[in-house]
Amino acid sequence: MSVRAIVLGAGKGTRMKSRTPKVLHEICGRPMLWYALRELRAAGIEDVLVVTNDELQARIGEFGVKGIVQSDQLGTGHAVKVALESTPPRAGSQVIVAYADMPLITHDVFSRALAALDGGNPAVMSLVTVKMPLPSNFGRVVRNGEDVERIVEARDAGPSELAIDEMNAGIYAFDESALRDAVARLRNENAQEEYYLTDVVEQFVRGGKHVRPVPVSDHLLTLGINDRVELALARREMNARICAVHMRDGVTILDPATTYLEPELRIGRDTVIYPGTSISLLTTIGEGCVIGPHTRISGSTIGSRVEICESVVVQSEIGDESKIGPFAHIRGHAKLAGNNRVGNFVEIKNSQYAQGVKSSHLAYVGDATVGEETNIGAGTITCNFDGERKNRTTIGKNVSIGSNTSIVAPRTIGDGALTGAGSVVTKDVGPGERVAGNPAKPLPEK
Ligand code: UD1
Ligand code: MG
Repeated sequence: MSVRAIVLGAGKGTRMKSRTPKVLHEICGRPMLWYALRELRAAGIEDVLVVTNDELQARIGEFGVKGIVQSDQLGTGHAVKVALESTPPRAGSQVIVAYADMPLITHDVFSRALAALDGGNPAVMSLVTVKMPLPSNFGRVVRNGEDVERIVEARDAGPSELAIDEMNAGIYAFDESALRDAVARLRNENAQEEYYLTDVVEQFVRGGKHVRPVPVSDHLLTLGINDRVELALARREMNARICAVHMRDGVTILDPATTYLEPELRIGRDTVIYPGTSISLLTTIGEGCVIGPHTRISGSTIGSRVEICESVVVQSEIGDESKIGPFAHIRGHAKLAGNNRVGNFVEIKNSQYAQGVKSSHLAYVGDATVGEETNIGAGTITCNFDGERKNRTTIGKNVSIGSNTSIVAPRTIGDGALTGAGSVVTKDVGPGERVAGNPAKPLPEK
């Protein structure tokens, strides 16, 4: 059986009060739409068409799916019609229709909706329903025993219908040819003068066909995001889910409520995450690390048994057994090989530290390569910017850079060299050479 999905995301999203299309608003670092697509894929549905507006269409390439523009947003029924008209009919095919503003949905709900079409008494449509506390803006599900009779939008509902607490979640499965027929016949005689997808239910029932409800018990699963209050609710729930996955995989998170995690992270066992920590993008963290409190790590690779406390690490790599912080800033593709020590108020940018390099206090190391076991004293600055361009500093292994050394790049300091406290290095320093002063000059032999 071929299955395809139509995901509706063309709505104006007026209640978001934003220049950004609603379904591109982010939840845990990914656009809302990303989650719906991930879950469709997890349900085995690869053939996905997203109904877009112009702004969303401009970014649809990021999602690896096809978009079709609905130029005038005349309602959910119209959106489905536009999608179906853009592709040739496929005999015997089933179609999932889902709204893109439901980021908390899980793949099993799609599978259940599809399964509900089959069975002894086949249905042409199934729809996911959810019990919800009243009042609610969701469409009400009017039942006839085991079948659905119609859906009434809250705005079109009378008092007795408004009292119904079983809602239309906004996820449906259809027999494709029945859906094509039904959307072609929709009318817009309702409070919003829109073509409601939900009106196809009544058409099917009148034609003697079955529409089967698929109840889900957790109403958070089907939370539809319409404003930024609901966006924050969804983010909190998604974050709690992501934290729970890592905790079950052996990560200790002291306070999930103040730990911000994104999907697609890899975190090793026995790593402990302290409160106020944010870990984002495609970050990997090894085993037995201690991260936080109050730490931000983004797009980085962290080895095992690394400690990072009250620090920021962005687009960088930190090797095993390193100790970072408090108050360090490592960024711009910095690479620390391992066993490194980076202490208070040290910024490292686009630099490489070999094994065992230490810069424990107050330093700026930018565009530098530093060899094994070299110690960078407090107050060291690589003066990498000459007003026009960035220049590199190369420091060998087992070098001792004295406190308050300024290295005016481009400069090379050889293996085993030493700079005295307060040196301003304006010339290359040879291997084993000892220099001091401003400008730094060779020290007399001992
Ligand atoms: C819709 C349902 C309602 C259900 C609720 C669940 C209809 C008529 N109503 O109401 O029964 O309880 O969702 O959240 O379907 N969209 C388009 N093109 C359009 C209009 C909308 O692509 O012309 C998209 C929107 O981007 C959105 C989705 O369809 O992703 C739903 O639209 P929205 O306006 O949020 O519908 P609701 O009022 O929430
Ligand atoms: Mg909605």
